Amino acid sequence: MHTVSSIFVLPEAAHTPVGAEVYAGLTSRPKTLSPWLFYDAEGSRLFEQITDLPEYYPTRTERGIFAANADEILAAALEDRPTQRIMMLELGAGTASKTGLLLRAAVRRQESVDYQAIDVSESALAEAQERIEAEIPGVNVIPCISDYTNGFDEVPANGCRRMVLYIGSSIGNFEPSDAVQVLRTVRQRLVPGDCLLLGVDRVKERSTLIRAYDDEAGVTAAFNMNVLTRINRDLGANFNPRLFRHRARWNNEQSRIEMHLESLIAQQVSIPSLELEVRFTRGETIHTENSYKYTEQRVHELVARAGFEVRRTWTDEREWFGVYLASAV
Ligand code: AVI
Repeated sequence: MHTVSSIFVLPEAAHTPVGAEVYAGLTSRPKTLSPWLFYDAEGSRLFEQITDLPEYYPTRTERGIFAANADEILAAALEDRPTQRIMMLELGAGTASKTGLLLRAAVRRQESVDYQAIDVSESALAEAQERIEAEIPGVNVIPCISDYTNGFDEVPANGCRRMVLYIGSSIGNFEPSDAVQVLRTVRQRLVPGDCLLLGVDRVKERSTLIRAYDDEAGVTAAFNMNVLTRINRDLGANFNPRLFRHRARWNNEQSRIEMHLESLIAQQVSIPSLELEVRFTRGETIHTENSYKYTEQRVHELVARAGFEVRRTWTDEREWFGVYLASAV
């Protein structure tokens, strides 16, 4: 005889991280998938390509802000204690391509610097360590494989002031309440005076935002669509990517770009390892990503709710992107 619980036992694949996410997302209404699913090897490659697109301004703009202000950022972080040394920690460091500008400024100021790079990707960290140590003598890279949203190891500061880098507007991919939680987790690891350097994309004209997430060359579309290929590979599903299209929408009320995959026809998709049949109506979407865009005031509120205070802000000529130096209070 079946007990009630055995009837509802989920297949084994539904307990893997990808399976659990896909099961929950595609059985919910509206259908959703979490953006971390984008980043398999192909998705990470496509994301690197996105950062070079003419329409995708955030990476280039933030890099420009660091290039123009790195020395000033370091000086501001140590304004109240100019003789103290700094150490840096980067959340979601990836290949750390922009961080070099800040590390170079730290080496100019104090000859050497400890840099703890935190990321879930071991290969990205290994590449970052090799490149940074070869290119910037004086930087001691400490790789740390971890999902920073669950916190990260207490780092011995050895008398240094800690500066946590959370750049690239990664904070924008979290719901505002989760964003506060992520920054609170960071705050718990710090002592008053330690600082956070936060890179945030700002609200701007709708057409500029849409172009950045729906580029001419179709790289963002391929990035979004790749999640279906990943589900086919990892879970044996039979999504036909040609029967979906990429959509980027600006949701003004929520102040966010939304990415969706829209079903072009009424269809049914099988995911055998999850024992799941997923039905789509024509025009129905899977909501795959939010990218929140912040106003100045919203950044100040977010940071304050997490236990920090904004001390300085840097921006570009068009004021499209903000870099915020905040102190733990
Ligand atoms: C990683 N993150 C900050 C990017 C963004 O702009 O929200 C991810 C991305 N999605 C589409 N293009 C880029």
